[in-house]
Amino acid sequence: MPRSKIAGIGYYVPEKVVTNFDLMRYMDTSDEWIQERSGIVERRYAKRFEETTSVLGAKAARIAIERAGITPEEVDFIIFATLSPDYFFPGCGVLMQRELGITKTEIGALDVRNQCSGFIYALTVGDQFIRSGMYKNILVVGAEVHSMGLDFSTRGRNVTVLFGDGAGAVVLQPTEEEGKGILTSRLHSDGTYAEELAMINPGAHSGYHLRKLGLDADLGYDENQEFGGLFVTQKMLDEGKLFPTMNGQLVFKTAVVKFIEVINEVLQDQGYSPSDIDLFIPHQANLRISQFVQKKLRLSDDQVWNNIQRYGNTTAATIPIALAEAWEAGKVKEGDLLCFAAFGSGFTWGATLIRW
Ligand code: COA
Repeated sequence: MPRSKIAGIGYYVPEKVVTNFDLMRYMDTSDEWIQERSGIVERRYAKRFEETTSVLGAKAARIAIERAGITPEEVDFIIFATLSPDYFFPGCGVLMQRELGITKTEIGALDVRNQCSGFIYALTVGDQFIRSGMYKNILVVGAEVHSMGLDFSTRGRNVTVLFGDGAGAVVLQPTEEEGKGILTSRLHSDGTYAEELAMINPGAHSGYHLRKLGLDADLGYDENQEFGGLFVTQKMLDEGKLFPTMNGQLVFKTAVVKFIEVINEVLQDQGYSPSDIDLFIPHQANLRISQFVQKKLRLSDDQVWNNIQRYGNTTAATIPIALAEAWEAGKVKEGDLLCFAAFGSGFTWGATLIRW
């Protein structure tokens, strides 16, 4: 059975830099608070009316495709991970296919909705298709445009300051090279905490889960209306209930535990220990989370790649952006052992181990 190798990588971040000081013009926050809690100094925001999630994805994908030595027409499967899609439906996979000018229809396009762990999930799905022999050139993309939908008032500050826009892409191909490629992955989920980091509206939930959990389910639904009218209500608009919300402390506490557990799982599966890792690329959720994990695993600064200081949390895009940056900086060399790990909304989490 062939393994999957990453044959090409690319990333794209929008030109517009938004500093913590820029955000202070919109909400009650400070550079000191943001840096101290998250390590973030600045992030990028997409160009309004031009740069959508699928457009950013296509920009990263073109670079990955070229570096893989293929043309867009040779891609036979697209996996697109995002929580900020252009449309409710169809997904960004088909929109990016069109943006890339891929007109053949002998291709599949799949959207993955696993938020911060979206790239690990997408990569793992792609890996299975390569191993099964079904596809030969799989384009895996993680991309987000958060800036179009966040709450820029003080009410949304605990979430808004953390997130940025960007995209990363890889091309997966089969390899028969002994010991090379994706060695193993582990995926996890726990729906108990679904609402702790979520954007629940607009949606078809009609308050069902909230009522079951004993939470406030009064979203201004018209009890007399027989059909429709549940996705968006005037109350949601008036009270800012169309934005993401997060229980930051619970996310932080759970993330640090699950990161370490899942990294150890993939390492043990292959008979390695943390000291064997040449480069660890954590999902860029918060610099403090990454530093905690680094310390617990006793990794040196040289073994870890962080870029959240410059881009914020770009959710499904953080790992492929960081990987592409590290590769461009010469930090990813032939034969290196790489570990990716992510945790996020769902809660979902996972890790992947790759011999480059
Ligand atoms: N600027 C200034 N003050 C802010 C703020 C901001 N951007 N956001 C929140 N605050 C305030 C709160 O209102 C609160 O004020 P109060 O004490 O008067 O009520 C105070 O800061 C502390 O808030 P709290 O939420 O307890 O802060 P925290 O120390 O837990 O840090 C996070 C908040 C979000 C940085 C932290 O919990 C975190 O990083 N969690 C993980 C989040 C994450 O990684 N999410 C990505 C998904 S993987």
